[in-house]
Amino acid sequence: MNYLKNIKTMSADFKQQILQGIPEQLPPKRKIPEYVNRAPKRKDILSTEEKKLAVQNALRYFPEKWHKELAGEFAGELKEYGRIYMYRFKPEYEMFARPINEYPAKSKQAAAIMLMIQNNLDPKVAQHPEELITYGGNGAVFQNWAQYLLTMKYLATMTDDQTLHIYSGHPMGLFPSSKEAPRVVVTNGMMIPNHSQPDDWEKYNALGVTQYGQMTAGSYMYIGPQGIVHGTTITLMNAFRNNLKSDETPAGKIFLTAGLGGMSGAQPKAGNITGCITVCAEVNENAAKKRYTQGWVDVLIYDFEELVNRVKQVQQNKETTSIAYVGNVVELWERFYDNGIFVHVGSDQTSLHNPYAGGYYPVGLSFDESNRMMRENPELFKQKVHESLIRQAAAINKHSAKGTYFFDYGNAFLLECSRAGADIMAENGIDFRYPSYVQDILGPLCFDYGFGPFRWVCSSGNPEDLEKTDQIAIQVLNEIKATAPVEIQQQMEDNIKWISEAGQNKLVVGSQARILYSDAEGRIKLAEAFNKAVASGEISAPVILGRDHHDVSGTDSPYRETSNIYDGSKFTADMAIHNVIGDSFRGATWVSIHNGGGVGWGEVINGGFGMLLDGSEEADIRLKRMLFYDVNNGIARRSWARNKNARFAIEREMQRSPELLITLPNLVSDELLEELF
Ligand SMILES: NC(=O)c1ccc[n+]([C@@H]2O[C@H](COP(=O)([O-])OP(=O)(O)OC[C@H]3O[C@@H](n4cnc5c(N)ncnc54)[C@H](O)[C@@H]3O)[C@@H](O)[C@H]2O)c1
Repeated sequence: MNYLKNIKTMSADFKQQILQGIPEQLPPKRKIPEYVNRAPKRKDILSTEEKKLAVQNALRYFPEKWHKELAGEFAGELKEYGRIYMYRFKPEYEMFARPINEYPAKSKQAAAIMLMIQNNLDPKVAQHPEELITYGGNGAVFQNWAQYLLTMKYLATMTDDQTLHIYSGHPMGLFPSSKEAPRVVVTNGMMIPNHSQPDDWEKYNALGVTQYGQMTAGSYMYIGPQGIVHGTTITLMNAFRNNLKSDETPAGKIFLTAGLGGMSGAQPKAGNITGCITVCAEVNENAAKKRYTQGWVDVLIYDFEELVNRVKQVQQNKETTSIAYVGNVVELWERFYDNGIFVHVGSDQTSLHNPYAGGYYPVGLSFDESNRMMRENPELFKQKVHESLIRQAAAINKHSAKGTYFFDYGNAFLLECSRAGADIMAENGIDFRYPSYVQDILGPLCFDYGFGPFRWVCSSGNPEDLEKTDQIAIQVLNEIKATAPVEIQQQMEDNIKWISEAGQNKLVVGSQARILYSDAEGRIKLAEAFNKAVASGEISAPVILGRDHHDVSGTDSPYRETSNIYDGSKFTADMAIHNVIGDSFRGATWVSIHNGGGVGWGEVINGGFGMLLDGSEEADIRLKRMLFYDVNNGIARRSWARNKNARFAIEREMQRSPELLITLPNLVSDELLEELF
């Protein structure tokens, strides 16, 4: 009984704290525990005048009576960390996704958004929780704790006739709107195009006026590494499929890669599901240990000799296993070559979208030495990164000459190698030597057909609800597969296998979430079935839908999501903008659009949505309208770019949906063009 009383008091206290927003009393200064994984110190980029402006900007969240005390503290944070996080204002309550009914709210939709925000900041989920960073080294939910406190208060008090507008973490405020409008509209890192170089992010983020939202960090749709395990599994299975002989399987074959961080941490798990041997280098011992204790990688090895022995042994036994090598990936490539270990499939998921501020650790420096140098001597650090990339590319080239299939895994590896002057270009001097995973695999096999990382979260927080949604999904997918055309049978099969095994693979970290690659038909039918199950009580509370931005339509990114667009339009960003606008008036509960994400600031525009399924008829109408557009917008664009599979998919959709009328391209013969110039 006492226990129940405690929970009730804690929950009342939690609600009260949310409702007060910025507290009335200045909270005491906090001491941050040693064991917390902290964001790297950011570049000291502001002039003295700009530093004053940054402190002035930060103080505008607080009453004047506190300014004297806070001014010095914030100036200190800027000096020590390169940013003003306002650590003192981090709330005392535990940060995690609570069941939806525990949030103080007048709007269920707003409560769903609060749940998703707290999940993105949960220390089990977030990479640098003290600095409000969810993943990717700089993927921020908010710039500082004042923004978090204000946003949660707005969400707790808003009605379904209002919309909260958020500018790069800053809640500008509540504006009157309508029930049909999104409850929240988010922009992250939107810049005037000529002010979108990496140092512009450093400067304007330090000033407190913009942030790097990555993809699902700043849009509250991150579901831990599970989100990426599925995509990585599909990619890896097909990488092996495309490169093994028909009688071979991945058993006993090596997948060599790097990174055990937010997203990259999914690689060993995907390797195990694929059935190969994964060897993954990670320089940050804390990150490696975190994934090991979470069960995402089977073994941690620090010593190279031990690693070689282990690899030879598991190869012989054709054992499926994943090994984390705590060290630099460059050494791994070089020493595997010297020891005659053949790598079948290779990739890299260090954070090269952010090469000089903690995303990539050059070989030859310890982790701590790198962290120091990137702040104290950024020019020398940049040079070390370049030298390291040149060495890494050279080692990969030697493996590739022996038959290794290497692909860029969406982290700007090839782009940054080329900028470093590494030997990475193809003979024509225009393309890279190696494909991106989107060019070879995800683009033609998934995105062009509309398959992408659809996901949902059970807002009750109850694992039994998640199990029910898994069962519903298996049934829905089997029904679709029964009449699906031959072109998408393999995808359907892979996805049914994935969802059938998802529960036993224990993928949940944080909220009760599931990812399942699906096309427009699949997404709509799944959402419809979930909404009905909520209405009937089969699922005990609303379901929240969303997707990664890394999808068919949400993202214009010439080095990743749209790298398989060959009509010259891959450097435009119309698709992502249309998507977010189109989704917002078709029923999304919240929408977001970001500059940066995955491959880097200025290199990509990406957007996403969230949608609450509360079992109502309105939700049924909204889900059909919005999901249909959300997927088919991208297929239409891919078809216009002459992508064969997208043309097939959009023509099929037009046959099913008479109100859809898409402009189709006329194809021109190569001979005609040959004669022209
Ligand atoms: N392919 C995809 O679908 C996809 C999806 C999301 C992200 N990404 C990209 O993958 C990259 C990684 O994302 P993340 O969330 O895991 O980032 P992260 O920063 O959390 O993890 C990267 C890890 O790489 C380690 N690392 C850096 N340099 C290293 C080196 N030389 N040797 C060994 N380890 C090294 C870091 O210590 C870090 O833990 C990002 O660039 C991201 O944009 C790709």
